[in-house]
Amino acid sequence: MNLQENVSLKPFNSFGISANARFFARFASQEELAEILENRQQFLSGKAGANNMLVLGGGSNILLTGDMHGLVLKNEIKGIRELHEDNEYVYVQAGAGENWHAFVQYCISRNWAGLENLSLIPGNVGASPMQNIGAYGVELEDLFWDLEAWHIGDKALVTFTHQDCAFGYRESVFKRKYRGQFVILRVTFRLRKHPRFNTGYGAIQAELEKAGVKEVTIRAVSDAVIRIRQSKLPDPSQLGNAGSFFKNPSVSVSQYEALAQIHPGLTAYANADGTMKLAAGWLIEHCGPVPGISWKGFRRGDAGCHEKQALVLVNYGSASGSDIYSLSEDILQSVKEKFGVELEREVNIVGS
Ligand code: FAD
Ligand code: EPU
Repeated sequence: MNLQENVSLKPFNSFGISANARFFARFASQEELAEILENRQQFLSGKAGANNMLVLGGGSNILLTGDMHGLVLKNEIKGIRELHEDNEYVYVQAGAGENWHAFVQYCISRNWAGLENLSLIPGNVGASPMQNIGAYGVELEDLFWDLEAWHIGDKALVTFTHQDCAFGYRESVFKRKYRGQFVILRVTFRLRKHPRFNTGYGAIQAELEKAGVKEVTIRAVSDAVIRIRQSKLPDPSQLGNAGSFFKNPSVSVSQYEALAQIHPGLTAYANADGTMKLAAGWLIEHCGPVPGISWKGFRRGDAGCHEKQALVLVNYGSASGSDIYSLSEDILQSVKEKFGVELEREVNIVGS
């Protein structure tokens, strides 16, 4: 069993927060995972807070607010397999420990379409259904077929269909009802053999034109998305962050209209269910620690709000998880006071 003690988690979280794991184990197969879980009582028993356990992928959507006194399980299950195909689709299974962007590029190189708008999202395949990752008009659930997950308590392999996952905007059954109960091992995607491009999202069309693309291809869309993302989102290897810190909040049309009347310029999009999704980045940019100062570009110690994207909180070097959390709390309160809208954190807060 691959078990280490007192391991620094700094290299394993994209915020670059310093925190330690009392126990840290890597697993590359279902059998290795089952063995670690089977034996965990031996080394966890009697330790303070020993019950807490964190399954870690790429660490790009967590904020560590303290040391992990229990066990951190690093998912390293690899492998990409084409399961079968029909006239329209190819069904591709990927291990939870595969890097997401590398998997997307693998599919693009085989001309399998659908994932191109989700290019360059950090993290691993295993977290993608948990988060129902999304970008540029596409969500993971649009390509999802099924997944296999290990039930920690029952010691059993369970298959989840699309319906079982109860996907929503950055939501799934794994984030709510089954939180902490399953380890996702493999995910199967249904990809198109004949692409249907999704280039309606604002900047993609403009980026394709700028690049002089005459004939749209899967690769061209992926490249456009990559360029747009690089122009506004900080690279975690240069500046610690976990992408959007909050979700974009939804409000009723009447609440939106009332707000838009007082705040012309308020950015919002219509949801399919008739509600309006407000751009949280806009709300945050138009609030601040004191009147006249915006959160956007604001820095307190080493915790900050990104200068190009107010929805992204950043670690300039040695911010603690509590520093970032406390900044997020102040932002949340100021948005609530000014707009009467309560933001919800999108990043998973992992405490000791
Ligand atoms: P981790 O951070 O390791 O884990 C996230 C959560 O999932 C944790 O609660 C963890 O316990 C759980 N988990 C992880 N793996 C498993 C598993 N195998 N089984 C069970 N639970 C598991 N997200 C978007 O949706 N769209 C974006 O456009 C986007 N852009 C980003 C840009 C940047 C610069 C950054 C840093 C992040 C961005 N994100 C975005 C957020 C992040 O990339 C995604 O949420 C990603 O899916 C997280 O993957 P991960 O492997 O790093 O998960
Ligand atoms: N905006 C501002 N000020 C800002 C930032 C944004 O006014 O500082 C306004 C702009 O008007 C802009 C609008 O907000 O047009 C939307 O901004 P952007 O296109 O950058 O997208 P977002 O809503 O801020 C969401 C996702 C991203 C995803 C992009 C692209 C959430 C919480 N975030 O961001 O996902 O990449 O759309 O689809 O839904 C993530 O989840 O970590 C993430 C980065």
